[in-house]
Amino acid sequence: MVNSMRSLVGAWLIPVITALSRSTLRSTSTSASSAQFTIPAEADIGAQLIANIDDPQAVNAQSVCPGYKASDVQENLHGFIARLALAGEPCDVYGTDVDALTLTVDYQASSRLNIQILPTFTDAVNSSWFLLSEEFVPRPESGGATNASDLIFSWSNEPSFNFKVVRKATGDVLFDTEGTVLVYENQFIEFCTSLPEEYNLYGLGEHFNQLRLLKDANVTMYTADVGDPIDSNIYGQHPFYLDTRYFKTGNSSERAKRNESNASGQYTSHSHGVFLRNSHGQEVLLRSQRLTWRTLGGGIDLTFYSGPTQADVTKQYQISTVGLPAMQQYSTLGFHQCRWGYNNWSELAEVVANFERFEIPLEYIWTDIDYMHGYRDFENDQHRFSYSEGAKFLKDLHEGGRYYVPIVDAALYIPNPDNASDAYDTYTRGAAADVFIKNPDGSLYIGAVWPGYTVYPDWHHPNATEFWSNELVLWAKNVAYDGVWYDMAEVSSFCVGSCGSGNLTLNPVHPPFLLPGEPGNIVYDYPEYFNVTNATEAASASAGAASQTTSTGSSPSTSTAYLRTTPTPGVRNVNYPPYVINHVQTGHDLSVHAISPNSTHSDGVQEYDVHSLFGHQGLNATYQGLLKVWSGERRPFIIGRSTFAGSGKWAGHWGGDNISKWGSMYFSIAQALSFSLFGIPMFGVDTCGFNGNTDEELCNRWMQLSAFFPFYRNHNVLSAIPQEPYRWASVIEASKAAMQIRYALLPYYYTLFHLAHTTGSTVMRALAWEFPSDPTLAGVDTQFLVGPSIMAIPVLEPQADTVKGVFPGVAHGEVWYDWYTRTVVKAEAGANTTILAPLSHIPVYVRGGSILPLQEPALTTREARNTTWSLLAALGSDGTASGQLYLDDGVSVTPNATLNVDFGASHSSLHITTTGKWKEVNSLANVTVLGVKKASPLVKFNGKQMSTVNYDSTAHILFVGGLQEVTKSGAWAEDWVLEW
Ligand code: GLC
Repeated sequence: MVNSMRSLVGAWLIPVITALSRSTLRSTSTSASSAQFTIPAEADIGAQLIANIDDPQAVNAQSVCPGYKASDVQENLHGFIARLALAGEPCDVYGTDVDALTLTVDYQASSRLNIQILPTFTDAVNSSWFLLSEEFVPRPESGGATNASDLIFSWSNEPSFNFKVVRKATGDVLFDTEGTVLVYENQFIEFCTSLPEEYNLYGLGEHFNQLRLLKDANVTMYTADVGDPIDSNIYGQHPFYLDTRYFKTGNSSERAKRNESNASGQYTSHSHGVFLRNSHGQEVLLRSQRLTWRTLGGGIDLTFYSGPTQADVTKQYQISTVGLPAMQQYSTLGFHQCRWGYNNWSELAEVVANFERFEIPLEYIWTDIDYMHGYRDFENDQHRFSYSEGAKFLKDLHEGGRYYVPIVDAALYIPNPDNASDAYDTYTRGAAADVFIKNPDGSLYIGAVWPGYTVYPDWHHPNATEFWSNELVLWAKNVAYDGVWYDMAEVSSFCVGSCGSGNLTLNPVHPPFLLPGEPGNIVYDYPEYFNVTNATEAASASAGAASQTTSTGSSPSTSTAYLRTTPTPGVRNVNYPPYVINHVQTGHDLSVHAISPNSTHSDGVQEYDVHSLFGHQGLNATYQGLLKVWSGERRPFIIGRSTFAGSGKWAGHWGGDNISKWGSMYFSIAQALSFSLFGIPMFGVDTCGFNGNTDEELCNRWMQLSAFFPFYRNHNVLSAIPQEPYRWASVIEASKAAMQIRYALLPYYYTLFHLAHTTGSTVMRALAWEFPSDPTLAGVDTQFLVGPSIMAIPVLEPQADTVKGVFPGVAHGEVWYDWYTRTVVKAEAGANTTILAPLSHIPVYVRGGSILPLQEPALTTREARNTTWSLLAALGSDGTASGQLYLDDGVSVTPNATLNVDFGASHSSLHITTTGKWKEVNSLANVTVLGVKKASPLVKFNGKQMSTVNYDSTAHILFVGGLQEVTKSGAWAEDWVLEW
């Protein structure tokens, strides 16, 4: 039986779908290079639906739905419970109205209020209702008391049920549904809130665009395998936003005039967070003074975090709700080199050797699907990536202090039943354990990914995680890998429906599109300005591109007649829900390029309800697997593409398939900052760009920018020109220069990660978060901070040798020191400063008031950790500074010894206080203090006069060297004080 999913499709769609099913089955086109069957391109095309937001005829639920009336309020210790009854005739606008709802208001903690609105009965309509189980996404903890809350909930029945959430301290209305109706149907929920005239909202991911959401944005959330288009839903789903409101301070009420850009006024800001715990496809429409939130089902489980700072909100969200981020191994902060198209172990060895030769740090070497046997997870191609040769390669690599990460894809090859030699043990074991996703009729759901037709682990099956873990364990016996790159878990499928059902004798089949580099898909694209900097090459590339378009112009035909879905009262239509979200895939069809919404999990749950959780659960399974592989002794290192709220507790994330263009580099900053808000600090992007060819200038700037991102990896698409940093002289220089800084700062990064892991603080930070009293910073995403102390102002455009940047806080005494010259930046308050930034130079600044523990840069983090220490103390305008350091073995899940060092400087002295048992053996070489207005000729370390002292009275820099002698037993072995 093929495409059983079609049984639920509305009658008006049937002609289109039938044609597609036939083409899926009968096409016999083959790829030019072999007799391999190629899935026809049409197989990945679904219906051409009109997205509701683009449909001029779409019914506005607000104008036709009756809303609800609340009654039977029953108070309890933490809030109250009430009934909500439909206040009129059902509108059934995009589904079937639910007539009875239960409202639960729960003051969970002083900073947290939770509102749940759920169907009261599981009647005929609601029996198919999916409410997100705590097993998949935990609920925030309950237990507060009403009167201790920062937030006040109030409600009214006039004209229908509506509610407000108010910040008690200021009276500011954070959420207000008055004047709108609650629409609650089995396949459509809508609620609206008013917003201040000028609002600053962030989050609602995953998206590829600027940091602060635009005032007219349509934000779709639904996980999708799609290469970073701007303003569309992409790989992850994070239904969380941060709302920052600026107030003028002064004698009048703080609530006066928000966001007024008035140089003479002083401002402050308050932030709060809002999380909708719902895994369905969603849309948030931002309009003037109005936010409309729509989901394709599930419940309303809305949590408000009162902040009042961004840092508070982010901590509250992680600690109470989604979990704190995984602690990373120290080594993962080193540089990672990857590409699609590393063809064998010797090629990897050559890449590693080149890094050594050019003396560019390299910590992790990665392989893409090239290492696999027929693109099958957990099996190496024994010709090119044999286990025996790999064992030798990995032994040498590990001995050199380096590591290896392979890709693991979400889907698993299903063997050709006609070919006895096609057996695939992983599939055999999974089939025996019955842990794969099914069609509604109980047959296996068979989609297609790189290997051909594939099956999908069913994370709802009680044994699926064990199956997955076991595969990781078995494979680790053959390949001593050091982490997992988990991909394609949106979850991707290259055809609509269970396209492999009945077609397995064709396996392994070729994807329904040309791989990069195959004839007809030669990569000719280059960054903007390549035609200026490399005119001849650019001309030949564009000639190549032009001839390729004309010779292969047969893209699959799509119907131009857009279809509109209609409600099917009483029946849930999961493949074609009545409300069409503006899903990024062609035709907005939810079944395009993903497994179908009606594919079914072992507990009967349909994919429609949990689509965006597949990657999240796969990351959990991978995390559990790695704990087993390393017997719980080593922190799992996982980088995943598809994430959901809470994935950070298991994995980091990379930004997906960006393009080798300047715009992609620019948006990487906003993407990273958004993931700071989502609790996934281990974030980085494909440096130098994935799709398309890069060029020297872009790669130069990008290697420098990414050096300041928490996760630092260069990755490239198959067949594009090589882009390892040693390919161009200027990129070698740029990468080394930036890595010198990154590697010196590794202890600082590691400390930031530990703070993130233990307190929910962020690693990469927006200026607005560190300087909450400056409304002009609310939208800044062209520069950023790492922790509180380091600021990078990258060049984001071609052919520039200067960059404009702001130096926040200078109006109020903030001091910034140039990293390179160690001197104070002369910047004008509230204005852009033009900074010299020739190629290979990234402007980096240290914030006054910071003390940074540094080690010497090296080619690996192991070497760097074996160098002497130094301290860079950058005094603030008040002559004080502080900082922290956290150390442990860098590997263990539960380290048996840790060390915390607190640094403080004031009144011409710097002291440290240490706690913990981790023994740091390396001594302290020197201390540099910036901003020393006058130094005494006598500099003392623990009362002992030091002789290697240099004071630059013009630059106000005090340097104290020769400290190894007095810190022989280790820089932080005991508390000490330095006085000048
Ligand atoms: C996906 C990944 C990309 C990888 C490719 C081949 O497109 O996002 O990083 O190189 O698959 O595995």
